[in-house]
Amino acid sequence: MVWKISTLVALATVLPLTLGTSVPPSSSSFQQVCSKIQRAVSSASAVYYPGSANYTADNAHWVESSDQASACTVEPGTAADVSIILQLLGSTKTPFGVKGGGHITNVGFSSTTGVQIAMTRFSSVIYNQKAQTADIGPGLIWDEVYAALEPHGVIVAGGRVSGVGVAGFTLGGGYNWLTNQIGLTLDTVSAFELVKPNGQIVTVTATSNPDIFFGLRGGFNNFGIVTKFTLKTFKRGNVWGGVIGYGSDQAPAVQAAIARFATTNTDPKAQIIPACNFMNGSLQIDNIMYYDGPTPAPGVFDDLLSIPNVFNNVSTRSFLAVVQAAAIPAGARGAFHVATVLEFTPTIVGAILNETTFWGKKLANDGAFLISYNIEPFLPNIYSHGAPSAYPPVRNAGYLPINLNFAWTPAKSDTIFQTALKESAQQLTNVAVHTGQAVSQAPLYTNYALADTPLQRMYGNNLPRLRTIKAQVDPNNVMGLAGGFKF
Ligand SMILES: Cc1cc2nc3c(=O)[nH]c(=O)nc-3n(C[C@H](O)[C@H](O)[C@H](O)COP(=O)(O)OP(=O)(O)OC[C@H]3O[C@@H](n4cnc5c(N)ncnc54)[C@H](O)[C@@H]3O)c2cc1C
Ligand SMILES: *[C@@H]1O[C@H](CO)[C@@H](O)[C@H](O)[C@H]1NC(C)=O
Ligand SMILES: *[C@@H]1O[C@H](CO)[C@@H](O)[C@H](O)[C@H]1NC(C)=O
Ligand SMILES: *[C@@H]1O[C@H](CO)[C@@H](O)[C@H](O)[C@H]1NC(C)=O
Ligand SMILES: *[C@@H]1O[C@H](CO)[C@@H](O)[C@H](O)[C@H]1NC(C)=O
Repeated sequence: MVWKISTLVALATVLPLTLGTSVPPSSSSFQQVCSKIQRAVSSASAVYYPGSANYTADNAHWVESSDQASACTVEPGTAADVSIILQLLGSTKTPFGVKGGGHITNVGFSSTTGVQIAMTRFSSVIYNQKAQTADIGPGLIWDEVYAALEPHGVIVAGGRVSGVGVAGFTLGGGYNWLTNQIGLTLDTVSAFELVKPNGQIVTVTATSNPDIFFGLRGGFNNFGIVTKFTLKTFKRGNVWGGVIGYGSDQAPAVQAAIARFATTNTDPKAQIIPACNFMNGSLQIDNIMYYDGPTPAPGVFDDLLSIPNVFNNVSTRSFLAVVQAAAIPAGARGAFHVATVLEFTPTIVGAILNETTFWGKKLANDGAFLISYNIEPFLPNIYSHGAPSAYPPVRNAGYLPINLNFAWTPAKSDTIFQTALKESAQQLTNVAVHTGQAVSQAPLYTNYALADTPLQRMYGNNLPRLRTIKAQVDPNNVMGLAGGFKF
């Protein structure tokens, strides 16, 4: 968040002056590290400085508010170079960022004023037909992965809308279009190639390194830098999906239909993500629908399809085309947050619609671009498909995320919107609790949570084990030089 930038600036400039020493400003020591990296890495990798197109691309994020101006960027091309870079950063205690698809909305999580590592050159997709897995580079976005696998007639269970990165998505959890059937994306990982903080390159599986395997699934960059994901593949031809939009005049009917789907659907192939959006002074509900086959089972979506819509681009098409039918507009500045419920009752859906309009109107004068609430109904057994992992901390209850997505224009409104996100998530939690849902301390999803969310709320009772593993894998806290949720 913004106060992090000012803290870094304060440390870099004020401290040396106050102490009256000749300590060089950090930016020049960062430059020395950049040069060292440049000399040490192989020709597969490259270092970039301000003014180059690569530098700009390496620091860029889905929302500009997640960008920081790094001293330099480095695009490693091999795991061996990642190892060299990590050891140099650790020994010089240089702050760094690790960026996959750059979609995180917390500033400093995949950005830095030190050395920015952009994983963009890790861009290969190798399909292993025999094992029914794919080796996937952490520099890719899901669209690229689906496109590479399509000729083989397989998919992996990744992002549901266009543009999202493989790395952060998988390392944080990954709610996907097959979640009702197979759980989170992290439940489909069979191996990680990991560069540990000491520079060692290891293949992490459930049997080779059970502790790190547990920790990486939900633990982001706490244990090192992932240079390869091996994910399960699934045979798929055409599927059915797309987006249908409703005007505010249909809100009562849509509210009822969403709640009915959420509380009565039992077909694991059917999933929806209704988004309640307030944009340009009015409410619109855009519902992304997915059926895991070319034709939905009779009746599943009838309610939602029969309500008069303002547009409907749902059809039978490739998996990639379904994902690309839905792109979420990024504002200049933006942040996600999350509330967790156990059931999307009509009361909860009504409260979400009320929040959408309430904050849409209230924040209009502060430069709101989009006020959006994504409702994510799944079947109650979605966490039963995987082995214990850092996230979710509880696998025997069907916790469901509501993703709050606020976007705005002026930087001076950052605190206003972040405070509103927290108030609104709390309001939704209160409504759920008052209507009998035991969610006051329910786990919050790592990939949606605001930067200052307490670790306990995301990792729960897993936290002591995660801290023990962290101390073993990274005794010098090298990964503490990179931002994010830290164990
Ligand atoms: C438009 C949009 C749609 C989304 N849809 C979904 C969805 O359907 N389901 C869902 O679950 N989430 C969804 N998300 C949330 C998404 O999962 C997170 O934003 C995720 O972190 C993005 O991954 P990334 O690689 O793009 O992010 P980045 O910003 O690049 O990275 C996020 C975090 O992962 C760390 N990291 C990145 N690469 C590595 C690596 N190689 N090794 C170690 N650590 C690394 C970074 O340091 C950072 O802390 C969505 C987000 C957006 C903006
Ligand atoms: C970075 O540089 C390489 C090699 O010079 C180039 O091929 C690539 O397209 C650049 N990447 C970006 C993101 O600009
Ligand atoms: C909102 O308004 C702006 C400017 O008035 C316009 O460019 C944009 O297309 C509108 N968006 C929607 C979703 O109507
Ligand atoms: C479907 O509708 C959404 C919302 O208007 C739009 O963003 C998207 O481009 C459309 N996709 C197709 C394939 O028409
Ligand atoms: C609508 O939301 C606001 C803000 O959270 C809240 O104060 C108000 O009581 C809500 N109204 C209804 C009818 O739920």
